Amino acid sequence: MIDINKEIERLDWSKEPKGLYEPIAYVLASGGKRLRPTLALTAAEVVLNGGLISGTALDDVLPAALALEVFHNFTLLHDDVMDHSAVRRGKPTVHVQWNQNTAILSGDQMLIEAYKLLERVPADKLPRTLRLFNEMATGVCEGQQLDVDFEHMSQVSIDDYMTMIEKKTSVLIAYAMRIGGYIAGASEAQEKALYEYGLHIGLAFQIQDDILDVYGDPKTFGKAIGGDICCNKKTILLLTALERADAESKAELLQWMMTTDRDAEKIKAVTELYDRLGVREEAESVMEEHTALALAALDRLPQNTATERLRVLAERLVTRKR
Ligand code: IPE
Ligand code: IPE
Ligand code: MG
Ligand code: MG
Ligand code: MG
Repeated sequence: MIDINKEIERLDWSKEPKGLYEPIAYVLASGGKRLRPTLALTAAEVVLNGGLISGTALDDVLPAALALEVFHNFTLLHDDVMDHSAVRRGKPTVHVQWNQNTAILSGDQMLIEAYKLLERVPADKLPRTLRLFNEMATGVCEGQQLDVDFEHMSQVSIDDYMTMIEKKTSVLIAYAMRIGGYIAGASEAQEKALYEYGLHIGLAFQIQDDILDVYGDPKTFGKAIGGDICCNKKTILLLTALERADAESKAELLQWMMTTDRDAEKIKAVTELYDRLGVREEAESVMEEHTALALAALDRLPQNTATERLRVLAERLVTRKR
């Protein structure tokens, strides 16, 4: 069994100039759930048939698993600049601890480091791994652009939202499954099922992230509460609220959306509106639907201990607190 945290710790960032590499060491040592590399390795285990596999076969997947985690952490550096987020994993974000230029450049270098890890993918699997990785990376950037575009748009539908979160969040999770499976020798049908599982847990994952941004405990969640409300992020909560509100509540909500200088009051008032309109429950039911679809995709895969872990993970993600 590969210990992903140990493997991440083994990456060496004691290089010069320190201003470039220290923030990389900082963010990678700050914790995180390691969801994406864990999924890549577990997808490989599903294909290699659970406990019956040799260590060597999983070792082939490790460089890509690490690349996915380094890439994910790169997106966080830039995302925190874009979202004006000051805290992540209970610690100051890189642009706060250092400055914005550092978050940009160390982030850029992390993207390059992700590709350097991919150099170690077995040669026969490298071309297609790169193609999959690049499809994923483009998806994330497109999703991030939609996310910021939507902040300034008034007409965003729930369908637009689903497309946006599929790109900014799900695609990375789905491709982690797919790449892990591919390197382990998955058939086309298996790759498809792995992808589908990842896509649906990814959608559920981002919906839960939106919920925790309002209803989470900052100590366990590790991020500030209410950031999405402050910058009018078109989350499923806000869009459902706009859809459900009567004329009076809608006017109140729109008024708060134009308010930019009273953050604490805005968070409190908008949260109260959400409570009144029952939007959290609606978001949770959409999350459950996607969890069910993810579980259904697992039925099309070999059934072994790794598949069982994916089943448990899908069920846990919807009640996660961090
Ligand atoms: C944060 O991802 C970005 C989102 C897609 C919501 P995670 O919640 O997986 O972050 P870490 O790596 O565990 O901190
Ligand atoms: C996550 O969106 C998408 C990416 C980081 C690419 P969020 O902006 O909701 O993520 P958090 O909440 O800051 O982790
Ligand atoms: Mg964001
Ligand atoms: Mg963010
Ligand atoms: Mg968020």
